[in-house]
Amino acid sequence: MTDLAKKRILLGVTGGIAAYKAAELARLMVQHAIDAQVVMTQAARRFITPVTLQALSGKPVFTDLYDHRIDNGMAHIEFTRGVSAAVIAPASADFIAKLAHGVADDLLSTLCLARACPLLVAPAMNRHMWENPATRRNISQLKRDGVTLLGPASGEQACGEEGMGRMLEPDILLAEIAAFFQPKLLLGRRVTVTAGPTFEAIDAVRGITNRSSGKMGYAVARAALETGAEVTLISGPSCLAPPPAAKLIKVVSASEMLNAVNDAIADTDIFISVAAVADYYVLNPSEQKIKKDAHILTLELAPNPDVIANVVNRPNPPFCVGFAAESENLFEFAEMKRHRKKLPLLAANLIQDAVDGDESELTLFDDDGVHPLPRVPKITLARQLIQHTAALYHRGGGSTEDTPA
Ligand code: CTP
Repeated sequence: MTDLAKKRILLGVTGGIAAYKAAELARLMVQHAIDAQVVMTQAARRFITPVTLQALSGKPVFTDLYDHRIDNGMAHIEFTRGVSAAVIAPASADFIAKLAHGVADDLLSTLCLARACPLLVAPAMNRHMWENPATRRNISQLKRDGVTLLGPASGEQACGEEGMGRMLEPDILLAEIAAFFQPKLLLGRRVTVTAGPTFEAIDAVRGITNRSSGKMGYAVARAALETGAEVTLISGPSCLAPPPAAKLIKVVSASEMLNAVNDAIADTDIFISVAAVADYYVLNPSEQKIKKDAHILTLELAPNPDVIANVVNRPNPPFCVGFAAESENLFEFAEMKRHRKKLPLLAANLIQDAVDGDESELTLFDDDGVHPLPRVPKITLARQLIQHTAALYHRGGGSTEDTPA
């Protein structure tokens, strides 16, 4: 998550059992080269020691408004100047109440009031406290005040109860913080993304498919959401959790994917076709499971519709981005494919660099030339692709000249 490198973040830790997760969050921040300054409340110190957070963040931890270690005696000003954001994790019900009412009776609450940077709050509390009308009012107030809420999640709670109020896990919190910082390049634009493989039935249990986890497509959907777009994610079979804010449409076969895309496309500004669509389907699939015998089994295959070609050839097509995974001759095949499919932008990689893993590399091909994106986590790659796409889209869509390959 190199997107966060060198950002300065104030990490505020308040009193709740989830404070132990702040240790992992501080460690992850440092791992991602974030300059993190930890400030704790007195109550937080009952759950986790400053020594732990100091060791993990590599900096002294502060609690006291009148701490003599601050040269000018103005800790409440000092720690939020030049800071990219203040992140309160965990944020207890009590601390949220203070924030909602502008109470400033200790270092952390005073810092929040005196800050000149965005405030991100990760609530953590028992489900009854979360559902209490007082907390509901306070949360609404924070939203009105422009505070960004990270979570909470629902699930098993430290008290043994089940429900809403768990703090997001540290790795998810870090991803949400990275998302917060993405420039809102596609605010209000409608983006449709296809992802995953398609599956073409042979019989009741078997089928033809492509190797594809859906990770890149889901990351592209997430990255588009982060830039303020409305996202429709049309996904073939995949076990991945979709980004919650996306409109998810699940499909199985290529023809189902084509129908779903056709339904969505009139309301689409940008179409990104990441799906590994099966090129053929089986003519006359068997409704029952085919029983094996000693003979050779011949399947008759017919070509599937080309989804992205259907979109490109519409009268007023959206800005279209294609993907290509090749096993050899990447540059030659990708550039040929871009021209054959009349795409202003195509993202390509070698199959061995792409399938299944959490990291990948991509090469972008457009009318300006070739743009290599070195190996990074897929979400980072997806963010780079979305930035490139947004730049071309705002420039006027790029060319879709019909140059035969
Ligand atoms: N694509 C599509 N519909 C298909 C096949 C591919 O929309 N039936 C899209 C993919 O989502 C991708 C791009 O076209 O964005 C290129 O896919 P790829 O499978 O690499 O291209 P093909 O045209 O199928 O070429 P080949 O399999 O011969 O390499």
